[in-house]
Amino acid sequence: MTESVSHLDLIPIKLLVNIREDKAINSISNLTQTPATTEESQPILEIWGRASLQGEVQISGAKNSALVLMAGSILCPGDIRLRNVPNLVDIKRMEQILTALGVKIQQHGNILDIDARDINPTKAPYDVVSQLRASFFVIGPLLTRLGTARVPLPGGCAIGTRPIDLHVRGLQAMGANVRIESGIVHAHLTGKKRRLQGANIYLDYPSVGATETILMAATLAEGETKIENAAQEPEIVDLANCCCQMGAKIKGAGTNTIIISGVDRLNSIDYNVIPDRIEAGTFLVAGAITGSEISLSPVIPEHLAPVIAKLNEIGCQVVVEGNEGTMFGGNIQSSRLRIIPGELKGTDIETLPYPGFPTDMQAQFTALLSISEGNSVISETVFENRLRHVAELQRMGANIRVKGHHAIVRGVRSLSGAPVMATDLRASAALVLAGLAAEGKTTVRGLHHLDRGYENLETKFRDLGANLQRIIPAS
Ligand code: EPZ
Repeated sequence: MTESVSHLDLIPIKLLVNIREDKAINSISNLTQTPATTEESQPILEIWGRASLQGEVQISGAKNSALVLMAGSILCPGDIRLRNVPNLVDIKRMEQILTALGVKIQQHGNILDIDARDINPTKAPYDVVSQLRASFFVIGPLLTRLGTARVPLPGGCAIGTRPIDLHVRGLQAMGANVRIESGIVHAHLTGKKRRLQGANIYLDYPSVGATETILMAATLAEGETKIENAAQEPEIVDLANCCCQMGAKIKGAGTNTIIISGVDRLNSIDYNVIPDRIEAGTFLVAGAITGSEISLSPVIPEHLAPVIAKLNEIGCQVVVEGNEGTMFGGNIQSSRLRIIPGELKGTDIETLPYPGFPTDMQAQFTALLSISEGNSVISETVFENRLRHVAELQRMGANIRVKGHHAIVRGVRSLSGAPVMATDLRASAALVLAGLAAEGKTTVRGLHHLDRGYENLETKFRDLGANLQRIIPAS
């Protein structure tokens, strides 16, 4: 997760008009390297609205799980195979950071073979770390395995300042000496103790990242660690399941109290990353906002409970269509979901830590509620600056007022196509959904945000019958 966008606005693209998706994927590995020229040379997405979608869409592996599992591979001085890893800019960046640390990575489609035998804990490259917030997740595994780590501060991003104080305080509670100097976090063990020490840690806020950092650090610590007010997101459970398969001793993941008993060593595994609940939620909203009945799989319905509850409130039905058959980490069976659209009516949404309504679905629901009858109030409580998509939806005719961290929505009959600019990852998805529902043509710029978190989105929508294409201005 980089959620820092400033660097991406500098990406040049020298490609012919209208490239096919696989070319886009190859260009993903270029994306993380070279600076850009002008906005004009940036690719744009043209969407013809009033789409009627049908069929089934394949859901990719979870970005926010794959990223932390890749960082977690450092815990094991051997081979790790991760399956169902999505092909995304953020994943490429995490590969770059791990490679700079000495990790050997081979990719075969959505499978990553990772060998973290020989690593150098001081080599995390600033220029890449600053583009991927999730890269900070390497600090826990490096420190607990090698007793020292040096990782650039990830910095803020479009949606918020994104401090790491809870990560640092957790590592300090386990006996690490942590100091921040010239933008670098230096963490090492002092005194005779060559291992982190188990500790009781109460998190002031159930931060996903801080819970993941402390959980990974505690797997190889001496003694027992208790994390209270821990985050409960499905990605935390996937991380704990993965670490347990490596030989860690973890109880309570998915609840607000996690207990980790440190072990001496973790071992090689072959692990299947869970499906992406946010990508799945985005496609459910695509069905609702275009009035289309579509199916999606593989998904784990429980992970989408707050999203499905709100779609039901708005007037749609979401049905679980039996087991899809794939097993994911921790023996979780996946299913197929189908959305049956209905008359859209307004409702209120407040984003909260899991199992509350996910902040990563807020923008998509703002687009949906902008054409739902009546009034809706959307309160973004997790990030301080995550309503920037509202101004772009207003360009398309939405009637939304922002008051502090609330968006007050008065539903309109329909949106009309317009040129809009994506400001962050989930905002970009919301604008694509609004474009699919709107009258006429919408052009979306800032696609580097989209490529960070959605695998083959355009192809998936085209296969469902949508009319959209990526245009690369000839230079
Ligand atoms: C993870 O970010 C996800 N990213 C985010 O997804 C997601 O929005 C977020 O969790 C909440 O669900 C990844 O997993 C890579 P947090 P993370 O720590 O771990 C404050 C997407 O769209 N905080 O739970 O960074 C923080 O400022 C992305 O895919 C502190 O104050 O989220 C924020 O307000 C966006 N101090 C709140 O907690 C800290 O030390 C939640 O942050 C850490 C966090």
